[in-house]
Amino acid sequence: MQSRASISGHTAITVILAHPVAHVRTPQAMNAQYDALGADAVLVPLHVLPEDLATVVEGLRRMRNLHGIVVTVPHKEAIARLCDALTEEARQVGAVNVIRRDADGRLTGGQFDGEGFVAGLRGAGHEVAGRAVFMAGAGGAAAGLAFAFARHGAARLTIHNRTAAKAEDLAARVRAAYPACDARAGGPDPTGHNVVVNATSLGMHEGDALPLDVARLAPPMLAAEVIMAPEVTPFLAEAARRGCATHGGKPMLAAQIALLARFMGVV
Ligand SMILES: NC(=O)c1ccc[n+]([C@@H]2O[C@H](COP(=O)([O-])OP(=O)(O)OC[C@H]3O[C@@H](n4cnc5c(N)ncnc54)[C@H](OP(=O)(O)O)[C@@H]3O)[C@@H](O)[C@H]2O)c1
Repeated sequence: MQSRASISGHTAITVILAHPVAHVRTPQAMNAQYDALGADAVLVPLHVLPEDLATVVEGLRRMRNLHGIVVTVPHKEAIARLCDALTEEARQVGAVNVIRRDADGRLTGGQFDGEGFVAGLRGAGHEVAGRAVFMAGAGGAAAGLAFAFARHGAARLTIHNRTAAKAEDLAARVRAAYPACDARAGGPDPTGHNVVVNATSLGMHEGDALPLDVARLAPPMLAAEVIMAPEVTPFLAEAARRGCATHGGKPMLAAQIALLARFMGVV
């Protein structure tokens, strides 16, 4: 591990904006990635309240050694409106989780939640092309995943969400962008799907309800999760108990780290 004493005026500065900030895991992962690649760069966590976001972004825009901004809860949607340009993925999802700062201060927002999730699946040998995917959730992370599943050739996508209107809206947006993917809102039963994903926040806290009807999970379904902690959520435990292969939330972050560093132009 490189020492903080190696940070100098040549170091590429990157930051992550969050509220709260104590729980974020990206700084450790990103700094380890910079070290592994021998990059003279650092990622610093910044605690920013929603009402201060615009002021902070305006200041960051003027910092000439700033290469990029990683963005997490609750700023992903609001910061998209502060960027000068958005990638196709960020525009589709309506949220940004990374910004590249060009030398002239221009800010371009990108979105890699979905790309990271699909890359993590692929790294573990699982494909979505031609598959039927069932996804619980229609929030920020789920939107990124939904567009990525369609972009990577999923034949069918069923979206189940507590607030059904959000599932219907997301499915319609995915269908409009990728007509080859049969995206629809649906109930909690994942029967008939190859890949079953929890993209809700259910499972982070003890006593959370299950995100879908786990009694319908059966081999050869793959059960995949966005939640990183606990590593084995009740959803994954139920899937494993029924003989399904499982895929945890950590590979999504691991795969994103490399994508984010590249997007910010650090490596
Ligand atoms: N592994 C990674 O790299 C990574 C990256 C990003 C996010 N995540 C994880 O993804 C999860 C979701 O994050 P997000 O940003 O998408 O959050 P979000 O925008 O707040 O969405 C939360 C989702 O969970 C559902 N939900 C929450 N509480 C519920 C309840 N009591 N009953 C039923 N459904 C409930 C919401 O349903 P409604 O629409 O009905 O409210 C919504 O679909 C979090 O656990 C986050 O840590 C992981």
